[in-house]
Amino acid sequence: MSEAALLARTDHQPAERRTFAIISHPDAGKTTLTEKLLYSAGAIHEAGEVRARGDRRRARSDWMAIEQQRGISVTSSVMTFEVGNILFNLLDTPGHQDFSEDTYRTLTAVDSAIMVIDAAKGIEAQTRKLFEVCRLRNIPIVTFINKVDREGQSPFNLLDEIAETLQLDVSPRNWPVGMGGLFHGIYDYAENKLLLADKSDGTVPGRVVQMTGMDDPLLDETLPADAVAHLREEGELARAAYPDFDLDAFLNGDLTPVFFGSALREFGVRQLLDGLSTFAPPPGPQPARNGPVAPSEARVSGFIFKVQANMDPNHRDRIAFMRVCSGALKRGMKLTNPRLGKAISIQNPITFFARDRELAELARPGDIVGIPNHGTLRVGDTLSERGDIAFTGLPDFAPEILRRVHLGDPMKSKQMRKGLSDLAEEGVIRIFKPALGSNWIVGVVGALQLDVLSTRMEAEYGLKLGFEPSPWEVARWVSADDDSELKRLLATHRSSMAEDGDGEPVLLMRNEWEMGRFAQDWPSIRFASIRERS
Ligand code: G4P
Repeated sequence: MSEAALLARTDHQPAERRTFAIISHPDAGKTTLTEKLLYSAGAIHEAGEVRARGDRRRARSDWMAIEQQRGISVTSSVMTFEVGNILFNLLDTPGHQDFSEDTYRTLTAVDSAIMVIDAAKGIEAQTRKLFEVCRLRNIPIVTFINKVDREGQSPFNLLDEIAETLQLDVSPRNWPVGMGGLFHGIYDYAENKLLLADKSDGTVPGRVVQMTGMDDPLLDETLPADAVAHLREEGELARAAYPDFDLDAFLNGDLTPVFFGSALREFGVRQLLDGLSTFAPPPGPQPARNGPVAPSEARVSGFIFKVQANMDPNHRDRIAFMRVCSGALKRGMKLTNPRLGKAISIQNPITFFARDRELAELARPGDIVGIPNHGTLRVGDTLSERGDIAFTGLPDFAPEILRRVHLGDPMKSKQMRKGLSDLAEEGVIRIFKPALGSNWIVGVVGALQLDVLSTRMEAEYGLKLGFEPSPWEVARWVSADDDSELKRLLATHRSSMAEDGDGEPVLLMRNEWEMGRFAQDWPSIRFASIRERS
């Protein structure tokens, strides 16, 4: 593509970006909401999409050929869609909790998140864990309380639970008129609109009625008297009881706007999208070793937050997912990876439109591109034109399952170590080399990761692995301001000490109780369950 054509295309690119993820406990409705967001965005901009599609057709078929040739299937890792002048990049996160580590890393590449909560179940374990990661990074959260078309907890209970368990101010943006069998619709506070459920089949969104406020007599004409009385009482109470929306508090991660809705019935989805457009932040500066890198910086930079391997044993290819942090990335550009100390030519970057993939001619800060490679790029890598940038903040989580690896053929232990090291660097597993003995320990966050490990070791390295229990259940990275204390710990508890794949000291313990005892006995040592990749 000529420079002029590229610039013309640039002009057609939406000016703004919203790069976000959806966090939730399995079954809360993330998949349904994702579909409805895409649908809602597509429906609004059908004409624009049809026009853009012709433009993109050639690029897409190029990519399809690459995909077939290399046999990589990039599932729905990233979905990009446009609404008005805004390009939304929705980063998918694996639903199964065994892959939550991938989810955590994905959260380092977003600027905001939607927290989906099931109106019947409230805050669940996985939601809470993911929320904590967002909090670590001050990621602003928009809350969607889903399934109000079904019987659920009272809206007040749900709001209070969020406020109390997550220590977060809540500001409702709309209010459900009844729930379950008595669900009549949703009242939008900001615009004083009543979104009515179509009672002919009980659930499909029906008319939107403009009100002047909750005391509008039109409300009495539109809804049954008891529903109106209920809405006025609850709606007014809620407005008085919870803080008004405050943009700064939201951007600081101290307040969450809350939308009630039903993803399945498309209630509140459009409001949620409008909310994201209006107050979710555009791409901001990214933390790096020598100070944050602003999106306005002219030269291109980005970091790899996820690597997806090819499950076809005949191909060693990978797709590395990079978040562009600054500059305008053009296809064919050369970017330097400081870990490898060399420049890589980005020949076939991929972008992801809705459910399609295509070659990216241009990507801006906040965009995600997939970079096909043969295993050269790893989670945590920085790529930049400058060559001296190293982004920080990608978390490693202490494993919750520790296993000894058993190899069928002991003659192949060197190959096994290479395979384990490779997969550890890719971020699939964690390896620990105990200070005593030669048996490496493998650590994972979820049991399914062990299945992935054995499948890939067999397919890619021709090794059959077995796993045996290890004496340990808990691993913590240890550090101290006073180096001599760390040395003393090492010397006193050599049999519990190990090194991770990067040579960082780790303490392996039998259980949480032992962990508590160590923390008591060694007050000047820090025992970390999260470590930043650098
Ligand atoms: P997940 O990705 O977070 O795991 O959730 P997913 O969207 O798959 O939704 C989980 C279940 O909840 C689905 O039912 C889905 O249809 C249902 N669901 C999602 N949003 C709503 C909603 O707004 N209202 C209602 N009533 N249900 C909703 P399923 O797995 O197909 O089971 P089934 O309930 O259809 O049998």
